[in-house]
Amino acid sequence: MASVLQPTDENLELLRGVLRDGDLVAIPTETVYGLAANAFNSSACENIYQAKGRPATDPLICHVASVSIAQSIASFNQLSRHLADLFWPGPLTLILPKAKVIPDIVTAGLDSVGVRCPIHPVFRQLIESLEFPLAAPSANPFAYISPTTAAHVADNLGDKIDYILDGGPSALGLESTIVDARNESAPVLLRHGALGKTEIENRAGIKLTDLASSVTQGPAVAPGSALKHYSPMTPLVLSTNPLEDHETESSACLLWKKPAGNISGNVFWLSANGSLEEAGARLYAALHEIDQLGFKQIIAQTFPEEDLGSALNDRLRRAAAK
Ligand code: TXA
Ligand code: MG
Repeated sequence: MASVLQPTDENLELLRGVLRDGDLVAIPTETVYGLAANAFNSSACENIYQAKGRPATDPLICHVASVSIAQSIASFNQLSRHLADLFWPGPLTLILPKAKVIPDIVTAGLDSVGVRCPIHPVFRQLIESLEFPLAAPSANPFAYISPTTAAHVADNLGDKIDYILDGGPSALGLESTIVDARNESAPVLLRHGALGKTEIENRAGIKLTDLASSVTQGPAVAPGSALKHYSPMTPLVLSTNPLEDHETESSACLLWKKPAGNISGNVFWLSANGSLEEAGARLYAALHEIDQLGFKQIIAQTFPEEDLGSALNDRLRRAAAK
């Protein structure tokens, strides 16, 4: 069973040693927990795919401490540099042409690499004195809900890995937004995420082509964007009127906003005052909890179709996919 370690100086040094030896460590980030290995070490990265049961065709994101380190593993054009300057450290992953130093296994053979610079203070403390970037997908078994606490990782991957670094609950609770800006005249949104599309467009003064909303299967543009993903074991359906659809004892109703009036049993909500940020931060944790309760079905309320709401609806649609 994995040891869950608090971020003391001593434990951080121990975990750096584990990573230098080519072993895996689950790490906190502001989006979700990641399952990390030395990105320069192919066999360490191979172990990530094994532990997650992840297909070898689905590339990993490389996590770095700064733009200058990112420049040693990937090449930037003016637009990607501008985006990094605006949004790093933070929940934005950039798809960039990769440098030779990144092994093929990290990028699933692609000539591009996903790079992200997280802002979580414990992550930053860990990585700042490492000599290599950390390749890390979300620390969940393939296609299951992403973890937003150390306990989620322990529950779902605890028998596959030895170490989990506990940095508290992830503040954003939703994966990073992925942008491919290799073509400066036609930057592309590959995955909706914690950083809103409109915020990127407004602050960077660009227009993103949205390839993230297409829910077709296949590796064409965004490997890993398979329709079924982020799924609890309990079957999940979407509804705009969940309280009406929720009739039986055996289903759970998940609302993003606390309803007015009397509330019957088995009704859960993500935010008392209807804050999308709060609802987003709690969605995966709520799905993890409800998944343990033995309901036959989860009826989830759709979010308003705008920015963060679109990102959350994307996750719900994938969670509902068969
Ligand atoms: O917030 C996050 O991004 C979290 C934390 C741990 O950083 N990581 C994460 O990783 O969500 P993962 O592996 O669960 O999702 C990464 C997605 C996958 O769908 C993968 O296919 C895509 O990023 N990706 C990675 N490299 C890519 C590349 N070179 N081209 C296109 N897509 C890429
Ligand atoms: Mg994932």
